[in-house]
Amino acid sequence: MSRLQSVRGMHDVLPDEAQIRRRIEQVWIDAACGFGYEEIRFPLVESTALFQRSIGETTDIVEKEMYTFEDRNGESLSLRPEGTAGCVRAAIQHGLIPNRQQRLWYLGSFFRHERPQKGRLRQFDQFGVETFGMCGPDIDAEILLLGWQGWQRLGLSPQLMLNTLGNPDERAAWRRQLVDYFSRFESQLEDDDRRRLKTNPLRLLDSKSKSIQDLLEEAPRLEDLLGAESRAHFEGLREILDAHGIDYTLSPRLVRGLDYYDFTVFEWVEESLGAQSALGGGGRYDRLVEQLGGRATPAAGFALGLERIRECLEAEAVAAVDIYLVALGGGETACLRALAMRLRQEIPGLRVRMNMEEGSMKSQMRRADKSGAQAVLIMGAEELSQQSVTLKFLRGSEEQQTVLLDNIAAILAEHFASTG
Ligand code: HAM
Repeated sequence: MSRLQSVRGMHDVLPDEAQIRRRIEQVWIDAACGFGYEEIRFPLVESTALFQRSIGETTDIVEKEMYTFEDRNGESLSLRPEGTAGCVRAAIQHGLIPNRQQRLWYLGSFFRHERPQKGRLRQFDQFGVETFGMCGPDIDAEILLLGWQGWQRLGLSPQLMLNTLGNPDERAAWRRQLVDYFSRFESQLEDDDRRRLKTNPLRLLDSKSKSIQDLLEEAPRLEDLLGAESRAHFEGLREILDAHGIDYTLSPRLVRGLDYYDFTVFEWVEESLGAQSALGGGGRYDRLVEQLGGRATPAAGFALGLERIRECLEAEAVAAVDIYLVALGGGETACLRALAMRLRQEIPGLRVRMNMEEGSMKSQMRRADKSGAQAVLIMGAEELSQQSVTLKFLRGSEEQQTVLLDNIAAILAEHFASTG
């Protein structure tokens, strides 16, 4: 019988990799907490209608990428393909929105049935923030500053692509102009683009096809249709970013793949990643809360793809163990186990691994070395009778020493405080 494998596009995260992923997650959690954002968690499964009504019926995500199934009651459910919809649903359901400003963050897995390739998975992790109740450009700027800080801490500097989609009326006028314009060239369009022209013409802007790219040079621009309010919002945002020295690239063709945006939209792009170069994206979605049954509330947020961020970082394996404990007999094992518990309690953060299954001194030392530990504590019959332990450093040139059990915690605390 063939061995079972993980589902295509859904990957295991093994210990070394998990460590790097946890570091990335911690950077983003710290960045969000530093701006006073609070965590929210919402289910992996929602009713399919939620995603249809928020992301949009004619988007790629809803049309072809959702994991949708009927549960045993015949209800149509979907694995969440993104977080904004679920977050808004939860915020409405629990009354988090009315008369309040909310700043939330979340972290978790999302599912899209896309064709698996580098940077495109069927299960992937996002870190996201969503804000409610603030309509000015200053909150758009705040989430971008939060993003900037996260990138700084990770040592990355993706390009920030910035655009405004105006308000729904301005966009509707632009859509009409785009349809008129592209209809004149319908015979030159590929099937997919001809379909988009009918269902979601704005998506033509990020079509990869050469003919569309050429036609876009002369296509009507939303910029020419923006009214005073939209302009002021966008200029307000740019002023704050400029004041903080945040670089951005104006990208009039950035429309994003979800239907809920108004005004500001943005993406962080790392060109070196190739085809799937967006590390994250977001924008304002001022209509969505009302559309999902809440009171009209301005909102803005973004989400980041953690696997793509991982791709940009150097692998640096960090040992999982500080101290490895080696016992040479049964009595010694019991004594060392008690010592291990005491060390973990007295030196928070110290990672202490106890050898399992006694073996020769040599084989235990080999395991100790493999664990990456800085030091080993060894206890044989002599040490046990003297209530002491031998401390041997595995890396560096420090001498081996015999230390009384009563003193070992203080010595290790000092050593690990100075080496970090
Ligand atoms: P999104 O652009 O669809 O936006 O996804 C955000 C990020 O998630 C992408 O830039 C990418 O890094 C990552 N991502 C998306 N799909 C995949 C995939 N199949 N494999 C690996 N990574 C992927 C949203 O999801 C919006 N909810 C963002 C938002 C929040 N807007 C407002 N608030």
